Amino acid sequence: MSRFTLPRDVYHGKGALEALKTFEGKRAIICTGGGSMKRGGFLQKVEAYLKEAGMEVELFEGIESDPSVETVMKGAEAMQKFQPDWIVAIGGGSPIDAAKAMWIKYEYPETTFEDMCKVFGLPKLRTKAKFCAISSTSGTATEVTAFSIITDYQKGIKFPIADFEITPDVAIVDPELAHTMPKKLVAHTGMDAMTHAVEAYVSTANCDYTDPLAIHAIEMIMDNLVKSYNEDMDAIDAMHNAQCLAGMAFSNALLGIVHSMAHKTGAVFADQGAHIIHGAANAMYLPKVVAFNAKDPTAKKRYGVIADYMHLGGSNDDEKVKLLIEYLRKMNDDLNIPHSINHYGADGLPAEQGFVSEEVFLERLHDIAANAILDACTGSNPRQPSQEEMEKLLKCCYYDTEVDF
Ligand SMILES: NC(=O)c1ccc[n+]([C@@H]2O[C@H](COP(=O)([O-])OP(=O)(O)OC[C@H]3O[C@@H](n4cnc5c(N)ncnc54)[C@H](O)[C@@H]3O)[C@@H](O)[C@H]2O)c1
Ligand SMILES: [Zn+2]
Repeated sequence: MSRFTLPRDVYHGKGALEALKTFEGKRAIICTGGGSMKRGGFLQKVEAYLKEAGMEVELFEGIESDPSVETVMKGAEAMQKFQPDWIVAIGGGSPIDAAKAMWIKYEYPETTFEDMCKVFGLPKLRTKAKFCAISSTSGTATEVTAFSIITDYQKGIKFPIADFEITPDVAIVDPELAHTMPKKLVAHTGMDAMTHAVEAYVSTANCDYTDPLAIHAIEMIMDNLVKSYNEDMDAIDAMHNAQCLAGMAFSNALLGIVHSMAHKTGAVFADQGAHIIHGAANAMYLPKVVAFNAKDPTAKKRYGVIADYMHLGGSNDDEKVKLLIEYLRKMNDDLNIPHSINHYGADGLPAEQGFVSEEVFLERLHDIAANAILDACTGSNPRQPSQEEMEKLLKCCYYDTEVDF
């Protein structure tokens, strides 16, 4: 038996935020990030609409990018005090993911972070509150997914929490919120969405329900991401929907080792002065993983289908895989994303000398590879890499060398 789960309601299109006026409840807590939603006036609107719906409203602000376990615990405490029956999270993937984890701790105060990370092992939620997610970036699709990514900074590792219990009750996909995204954020989050769709399509858990969503998302991202990066407003609006469709696909078909590697390299070099931003990590690793996975016959065929939908040409699957890899690399060029870690600057842009030195990378390689293999996203990848293969793959991602194994 398989399960396909989405939020009960997805309000989309310009003005979708107004759906909040129809919510029923007594108390709503709004969880948000560092200020972009306030600057855009969206936070004030959310507060006003919830009050119009007759609710008492409290704010939990300042959730950082790549949220920590500590922030989750603090937010849950605020919820314990206020006892909301609605949790409304607004912002990028970070505040929404943090709010999902707070929700678990609010409903089950005895739960530890370790308990939360047991894949598909959460107890029933919604005994205290329902959850509404309003995304302001066009990439993570956390507004419709069963995932939350929390960083344990002591270990320098991102841990995915995965369970349909944390699929939000309501998602609001209003493109106006995405209009203020700076270019680099558009690029990174857009390639995150592309990776979601491609990984979902070749995942071993793909099915008839997820395939059309993944394929349509890929077509839309191909048509709109670079245009949206170049500030075409219609393309920005289209990307907000495309990333959501990709999320519907991967929340049910799961992901693969591009994400395993991104999770395990994201914060592990923080002591060197920066994070490898999630979407940029995916953008760099995806072409390498396509080459690696294409050694699996079923995956190769599926990459061929993707290339066909993208009208890339090619007369057999080998050629199609090659053209797909070339196309993805060209997207990175168009979006000013580096191809490899050795050229990944501390600001996320291509640099002659990246912020992760060869010495530091090689020193940590063994542990990163071991952790990536253990990541929750590895299980549904079409090929199960050995420790040696994972290390070789990560080296290709560092040096931008060809994957021929
Ligand atoms: N839950 C999932 O299914 C899932 C999937 C992929 C990634 N993730 C996680 O999501 C996080 C990344 O989320 P993200 O890429 O959305 O970025 P983010 O939430 O970390 O935000 C990045 C920055 O952009 C700003 N910002 C957000 N929206 C803006 C807007 N509209 N205008 C101007 N600035 C804006 C934020 O204030 C912040 O400074 C990572 O932790 C990643 O691991 C989760
Ligand atoms: Zn992602």
